[in-house]
Amino acid sequence: MPQIAPHPALAGRSVLSLMNHPADAVREVLDLADQLKADPEWPQALAGRSIALIFEQPSTRTRVSFEVGIARLGGHPVVLAGRDMQLGRGETIEDTAKVLSRFVDAIVIRTVDHAKVVALAEHADVPVINALTHDHHPCQGLADVMTIRERFGGPAGVRAAYVGDGNNCCHSLMVAGALMGMEVVAGCPDGYLPDPDVVERADAIARERGGRVWVVTDPREAVDGAKAVYTDVWVSMGDEDQEAERLRVFAPYRVDEALMDAAAPDAVALHPLPAHDGLEITRSVYHGPRSAVWDEAENRLHVQAALLMHILG
Ligand code: CP
Repeated sequence: MPQIAPHPALAGRSVLSLMNHPADAVREVLDLADQLKADPEWPQALAGRSIALIFEQPSTRTRVSFEVGIARLGGHPVVLAGRDMQLGRGETIEDTAKVLSRFVDAIVIRTVDHAKVVALAEHADVPVINALTHDHHPCQGLADVMTIRERFGGPAGVRAAYVGDGNNCCHSLMVAGALMGMEVVAGCPDGYLPDPDVVERADAIARERGGRVWVVTDPREAVDGAKAVYTDVWVSMGDEDQEAERLRVFAPYRVDEALMDAAAPDAVALHPLPAHDGLEITRSVYHGPRSAVWDEAENRLHVQAALLMHILG
């Protein structure tokens, strides 16, 4: 049965972006996630603990993987739809943080505005985990790197290419990959590039470990030599008013068989899901032999359970 000593950089700490967490802490989370995946007998590490799961945006994978993972570790997930909370009727994030801290041992939140999650963490007396904001999706980034590592080893030195919108998943892949010494290249159109501050900070982290993070605008240049070709939805939650323009701009960035052929011969396709067949990826790719998306989705369960074990001990 997997057991751990919680990493001091994670014990009792919030996880909002991975940017401020040391590489060895992330590696220990990935190692524990591998153990949890291999061993169906999970420790009751969260016995007697309650964890609030606030969803202000829709979710399938994040909600189910957190809920199932917490239950398998013996804890009690308290799922809250944002619209059903007083938060949805104007109660402040500060007051919500203070009250929830009296009831639960940690708060997991999905919302568009990253500043809201930062504010929640500032005012809460318990750790806060970002379950997706417009800027970062750290739990997804951990699952992505776990999937790359189980396919190719390392993952130091492995190259991953992100193609499409330089969004939250792009940022979190860059940061998680950088912490593991990977090469992460984003191929994105002008106007939809990842945040240059995230790129700069991720590149600095990667270079300390022999890796690199950089951006190009040509999708074929991005995937050249890449072992993992990653894409995400072109119209993220909160961007719906830009749909027509985004579909036009991103059309050359579709991950199809031809783009996969331009990557390394053993490359796998990654996608956080949900996927949109014929838009950012074709069904033939993500349902095909080069797809790793189902492992990637499953790994959310293991990596989040490992993260909670480190945070809550
Ligand atoms: N990848 C991901 O976060 O999926 P959900 O939106 O279904 O949670």
